[in-house]
Amino acid sequence: MEKRLLAAAKHARGRAYAPYSKFQVGAAILADDGKIYSGGNVENAAYPNGVCAETSAISAMVLGGAKKIREIAVIAGGAKLVTPCGGCRQRIAEFADPETPVHICGPQGLKTTFTIAELLPASFDSRNLGRNLKEKPGLNPKRPRSRTAK
Ligand code: THU
Repeated sequence: MEKRLLAAAKHARGRAYAPYSKFQVGAAILADDGKIYSGGNVENAAYPNGVCAETSAISAMVLGGAKKIREIAVIAGGAKLVTPCGGCRQRIAEFADPETPVHICGPQGLKTTFTIAELLPASFDSRNLGRNLKEKPGLNPKRPRSRTAK
């Protein structure tokens, strides 16, 4: 994972608005245009209206004009791996290839990397609706299924 991706995710985590859970999360996407788009979780007094960091970063990417996620990094605190929630896995998959890396990080840096297909196997996508929005050539070279930081 590129250093600038981790740095962007960390920066976004610092800006996250999480006064209720006190669990700040940052996410950063390296997109097909070579740019980095980031987001943090933004909570709300009406709890269900809060949004996850990954969703914020995807919105920034789409509004920035990029089309695909090449890599995404998520950073949060705590000992346990903070992998994206189910809804965010689906949102990431919309803009990713099966092999797209999802880097799970903590304050010390990269903890482990999954592919989105590992996090969301047998997923529902545009092809289920008879609309193949996934026909563009793969953006991600083949890589090991998952790697853990040594
Ligand atoms: N959260 C994220 O932003 N991303 C994740 O991957 C997991 C959870 C947020 C949602 C909520 O604001 C807080 O973390 C606690 O669930």
